[in-house]
Amino acid sequence: MQSRIDAQARARRWWHSYELARIAHDYDDRQTKMVSVVAAQTAIRLVGGSEEVSVLDIGCGRGELLAQLARKQPGWALVGIDPDPTVQEGRLEGNFELISGSAADAPAVAGRLPFPGLVVSTLSMALWDDPERLLPASIAAAPAGTGALVIDLLRPPNTRSREAWASFASGDDERRFMMEQSAAWLDAGDWVRLVGQLRATLPASTVEVACEDIRFLGMTPTQWDSAVEEVLSRAEAAGGTTGVLLRVLSSN
Ligand SMILES: C[S@@+](CC[C@H](N)C(=O)[O-])C[C@H]1O[C@@H](n2cnc3c(N)ncnc32)[C@H](O)[C@@H]1O
Repeated sequence: MQSRIDAQARARRWWHSYELARIAHDYDDRQTKMVSVVAAQTAIRLVGGSEEVSVLDIGCGRGELLAQLARKQPGWALVGIDPDPTVQEGRLEGNFELISGSAADAPAVAGRLPFPGLVVSTLSMALWDDPERLLPASIAAAPAGTGALVIDLLRPPNTRSREAWASFASGDDERRFMMEQSAAWLDAGDWVRLVGQLRATLPASTVEVACEDIRFLGMTPTQWDSAVEEVLSRAEAAGGTTGVLLRVLSSN
């Protein structure tokens, strides 16, 4: 437990100081845009067709996903929340609100959303105080009928596989950034516990996951599956860097 808290503290430093956030944003600008494109497409598939939709993006960064949704769905109520002190000044253009705060503030923000819709998060959950509590609490606080979409990464099973991933770094600082981020990602057990909490808090909803090799995320149609433990342990055994997609479908 202590080692997870230490890993998270080291991973968070990169987003909370001006000097380190520059390295983190440079990396994201080059490497992670694809995730927000997949998230925007998947979100529209999940709740598209309706005009009155709210989306709350927790750990939204400078609003990559929200800016895309604002272009494609101009009528939606789009809100992002992020504690990084640099995101307001680097905020992308678009009709969305960007609130300064952490995932701990998300349930209160969700309670003020005008319509049902989606709670979303891409590549930020490993940095939250308590994802097992805060994701279910945010969905539960949102208007009835709200679901969720999370896209994140599965912690590789050992340091060697994290090092293989970090070998794509453009320099020493970026390599350190990649090693420290990946040490904090949720492992298969963390994902299973999160899904257990979602099912306990939202018994009328359906919770499913899909795992995709990060190199192919977005290229193959996602196979959603409710057998969470099996899907994750298969992905963990395969090694490599795995994207985990999680969706919560509300039955209300
Ligand atoms: C890898 S970036 C992802 C940004 C964006 N979601 C994307 O996919 O482009 C991680 C984000 O999580 C944010 N973050 C850090 N601590 C957080 C916390 N406690 N709660 C919510 N977000 C947090 C960081 O500030 C950063 O913007």
